[in-house]
Amino acid sequence: MQPLLDPRLEDYAFRSTRAEPRELTDLEARTHAEMKDPEMLTGRVEGRFLKLLALLVRPRLVVEVGTFTGYSALSMAEALADDARLITCDIDPDAAEVARAAFARSPHGRKIELRLGPALDTLRGITEPVDLSFIDADKTGYPAYYEELLARTRKGGVIVLDNMLQSGRVLAPSDAAARAIHALNERLATDERVENVLLTIRDGVQLVVKR
Ligand SMILES: C[S@@+](CC[C@H](N)C(=O)[O-])C[C@H]1O[C@@H](n2cnc3c(N)ncnc32)[C@H](O)[C@@H]1O
Repeated sequence: MQPLLDPRLEDYAFRSTRAEPRELTDLEARTHAEMKDPEMLTGRVEGRFLKLLALLVRPRLVVEVGTFTGYSALSMAEALADDARLITCDIDPDAAEVARAAFARSPHGRKIELRLGPALDTLRGITEPVDLSFIDADKTGYPAYYEELLARTRKGGVIVLDNMLQSGRVLAPSDAAARAIHALNERLATDERVENVLLTIRDGVQLVVKR
């Protein structure tokens, strides 16, 4: 992923954001050592942002689409009450194995349930109200994930969508992912069911609150 910001400012934002706990630094290192496409991991700035949102929303149920090795799930789980839950899903069994090991080592891991399988199956199986969700998986799937989550989100609940600038490709979308994300950005800005803002954190983060 190409940084959108001057790399010196990315670094400044990193240094000016509270450091993540050691277990996440270790997980990031393991992901870089063992996984293909380690840059998919959200990292410090976005991870701390997700944790702060969870502190503000005080969710009973968080849903994540796209676990990868578990960095963002653990970031949000840090802020959850002991009896709150986070359901996360992924289709990659190798990434899920790394995530499960990280959850097992973490004091927050027992709040997390990892479901292996296509996101739509997981989302359609959720019957309780969702307070906070994070969409970070296959980009052409985002419109369907958004609709499934919005239908399950309580009034005032929050949906966060990652990679909404597609490294700048939304300006002239020429591939399926960039086209899908651009169309969704346009839709979010006029969707009467929600309030939204597209934040220029990392690769673009849509912050959506259900009315
Ligand atoms: C960008 S990574 C997620 C990064 C993760 N949130 C983090 O912070 O480390 C995207 C993940 O979505 C998963 N994925 C892709 N298509 C999927 C689908 N249809 N259902 C569930 N997960 C999917 C991929 O296997 C990959 O692990």
